[in-house]
Parts: sequence; C-alpha cells; structure tokens
Amino acid sequence: MNRKKVREILCSGETGAEVLVKGWVRTKRSSKNVSFIALNDGSVIHNLQVVVDVNDFDESLLRDINTGAALAVRGVLMPSSGSGQKVELVAREIELLGPADPEKFPIQPKKHSLEFLRENAHLRFRTNTFGAIFRIRHAMAFAIHDYFNRHGFYYLHTPIITASDAEGAGQMFRVTTLDALKPPLTPEGNVDFSSDFFGRPTNLTVSGQLEGELGATALGEIYTFGPTFRAENSNTTRHLAEFWMIEPEMAFYDLKDTMDLAEDFLKFLIRYALDHCADDLTFLAGRLREEEKGKPAEQQSMDLIEKLKFVAENDFERLTYSGAVEILKNSNHYKKKKFQFPVEWGVDLQSEHERYLVERHFKKPVILIDYPKEIKAFYMKQNDDGKTVAAMDVLFPQIGEIIGGSQREENFDKLVARMEEMHIPVDELWWYLDTRRFGTVPHSGFGLGFERFILFITGMGNIRDVIAFPRTPKNAEF
Ligand code: 4AD
Ligand code: MG
Repeated sequence: MNRKKVREILCSGETGAEVLVKGWVRTKRSSKNVSFIALNDGSVIHNLQVVVDVNDFDESLLRDINTGAALAVRGVLMPSSGSGQKVELVAREIELLGPADPEKFPIQPKKHSLEFLRENAHLRFRTNTFGAIFRIRHAMAFAIHDYFNRHGFYYLHTPIITASDAEGAGQMFRVTTLDALKPPLTPEGNVDFSSDFFGRPTNLTVSGQLEGELGATALGEIYTFGPTFRAENSNTTRHLAEFWMIEPEMAFYDLKDTMDLAEDFLKFLIRYALDHCADDLTFLAGRLREEEKGKPAEQQSMDLIEKLKFVAENDFERLTYSGAVEILKNSNHYKKKKFQFPVEWGVDLQSEHERYLVERHFKKPVILIDYPKEIKAFYMKQNDDGKTVAAMDVLFPQIGEIIGGSQREENFDKLVARMEEMHIPVDELWWYLDTRRFGTVPHSGFGLGFERFILFITGMGNIRDVIAFPRTPKNAEF
C-alpha cells in the first residue's frame, strides 16, 4: 500500500480510505481502552492523531510506543470527534520501526529552552519550532531561485576555495594540506606555500562577488547562492562563521536600479512566505507572542505576520549615510547619550544605530546609500564628491543590516588607484581587473545574508537557530 504523507491527508480531509503512514511519535495519551498517538512525519507542522484500541494490540508493543519512536501505521481515516483535527487514523496494524528510550531521548513533550535545543541541534528538528524554521528555510531557498529565474538571472557557482580576499577585510579561514606542526619553510624562515596543495596560500571564500562580476560582464545578470566563511570573532546573535549568501550581480545597473531590485526581491520573498508557509508562520507567530508575554509593551514587537505584511506592502525609506548621521545626531536618544557607540560622520554605523533608524525613526526598512569610502570595500564606485562611494545597505527591523551592496567602480584607473591606497594586491587580481580592461560597463550587485533574512521571516532572535548546524567561535559540534 502506498504511504501517504500527513500533509496530504490533512489537506484533503478525506475519510474512509485505508492508508499507511510513517512518522515519529510526538506524544501518547492513554486511557483504559484507547491510546491517542500524535504522529509527525515532517511534511507539515500538524500531527496526525492515531487512535489505538488497546485491546487489539500487544501490550509490549504499546509500551514501547514513546515520544521519539518511529512507527509505520496502517489504518482507516475517520472523521475526528476530537478538537483540533478533522480526521484521525484508526490503527489496524502498527509496526515499531525504531524505539526511543524515554529515559534517554532528550526531546520530551514539554517546553525546552532554545539553548538546550542548540546543545541538541542534532535532534532539534524533531520539535515544532525547528520543523517550521527548516520548512520555511527550504521554501525561501526555492523562492530565491524562482525569482531570479523569472527575471533572467543565471545561477553561477563561484568557488569556495579562493586565493583572494574579496572584501579586503582579512577575516579568512586558511585552506592548506601542509603539516601544521612542521610546515616546509623558505630560506628566510617563512612558511613555504609553494609546496602547499595549490602552490599558493588559499582560503575559504568570504564572497563570490569578484567571480560574480566576471559572469555578469558576459551573461548580463547572474546570482550566486552558496556558503560563505568569515573568521571574524563576533559572538553576536547575527554573526556566523559559516553562512549562506545570495549575491546577484548585474551589468548595466546603476545604484538606483540595484535598490529597486533589492526591494522588489525582498518583497517577493516575503509574499512567497506568506502565501506558501502560512501554517508554519502561524505557529511561529504564536511562539513569539508567548515569548514576549512578560515583556513591557514598548519592548514587544509587532505580530510576526502583521510585520511581514507591513514590510511587503510599504515602500522602503531611502536616504544617504550623511542624512542618517544627521537624524541620529538630532535624536533625543543621542542627546540623552543612549547610544553605546559614537555617531560621527565617517564612523561605521553600529547595529544600535541601524535599528534606531528602522525601528524608532522611520518604522520601516531603510536603504542607506553613499557611505564614506574609508569604511567600504575597494571595489565600490567612487562618487564625484571624492568622499563617498555608491554603496547600499538595506536595514531591517530587529536585524539591522540584511543586505550590503554597491555600484562597482568600472573605471580601470580609478579602481587601481583605490586598490593601491587600500593595499589590495593589484597583481594578484589581474583577472578581476580584466573586466575593466576589456569592455568595461557600469554594473552593480549586492549580497543578502540568507540566515539574517530567515531570522526576519521566522521572528527568531538568534542566528544559531535558523541554520541547521551553526559554526561560531569555539563551536563546530555536529
Ligand atoms: O556586507 P557584506 O560583507 O557584503 C559582501 O560580502 C559583498 N561582497 C556583497 C556584494 O555586494 N555582492 O555581506 C553581505 C551580507 C550582510 O549584509 C549580511 O546580511 C550577511 O551578508 N553577513 C553575515 N551573515 C551572517 N554572519 C556573518 N558573519 C555575516 N557577514 C555578513
Ligand atoms: Mg556589509
């Protein structure tokens, strides 16, 4: 007999048929003559209620049906008289596929803290919260490919091992096959990378952008979507050492075109989540409400689904970095010295400043442009004022920076001059500079941090909870 997924059964609501269902036990309640088993197979947040007449089954089998155990149940779908579900499965045959010792299985039917579940990240998929998060994460990855495919962008796979530091920030993980204890040395006593695997020092990529630009200046519009690595020692709720980034790169786009694309793209993804992940979002919205119950009113965030609708339906605010600094300096928050970090033209904005602009001042997403060149990467287009570059950061509530991007400097001489100022190795990037030597064009791109976006969609507060196996400083378990 064909196995049916719980999702299909609950969606159709049909009764009368005999079906086979396989899944994991979430809970079991027993009375004298019947047991009710809540079975979940991961296809949907809801469980299927399995009704067991205890007189029809072996006592020892029933004893081994505990939270976490895997079952195959053959039975008949019947209209349910219980609340919360339309159909239930009246069991005829039960096979215990895999028992779970109730003394040892960590995920019991009670509220577990997110910290506890992080320590049990290998099993946390078995909870409603993480089931919902990872179904949504899947849907968003799918929607990203869908969006770009509809808009004529090509998916370009850029390398994970690279010899260049695209962001010029030097926060890279070295990739080597040299003996860490006894590396070969040059006559001067330095590590001899010429005998390393690639014959040169290599790292895990911090961004696919430079290779993406090569693709865009031939294919027109491309995007990358892959793992990205940063060895920054940031122990925050928004930083991972291994995260996923989506990087579109577009020939012939200026900064305005790029802002329009970023806003349209984000709104498409949010609408997709609202249309396709309603059950999981409803669950997560309830979870958030529950979590915020004790907080004072002004610290409570908007209902998750209201917030998603609000962002999808309203224009983002667009202003310059200089304008943002003005607003911050004139704010009561600043005057009362409530910002921890300084606000000064030329200084990079901290997440507290970004969130002030988004959550308190404009009360909607903000796109900031034209940042001081000193705080941005070498490849950004230099504005005529000589002080700023055509950078673009998209700032979101609760998150701060969710997208970083820019128009690129397409002028060979200006680009090389800036690279020299910033001590970027011009010789090593000869291949990148060839885009400016041969048929250079105005072009632009941006990077969306996938996990930061999933934080926003799910309303979760810690980036470690929206990637299956987080890598952070001193943490690479599982
Ligand atoms: O602003 P970033 O560093 O920009 C770039 O890497 C450019 N090459 C993108 C481009 O123009 N093609 O990073 C882009 C985004 C950030 O806005 C943030 O959302 C995310 O990547 N991000 C991180 N997410 C999680 N953990 C980290 N350590 C992150 N660093 C950046
Ligand atoms: Mg950035």
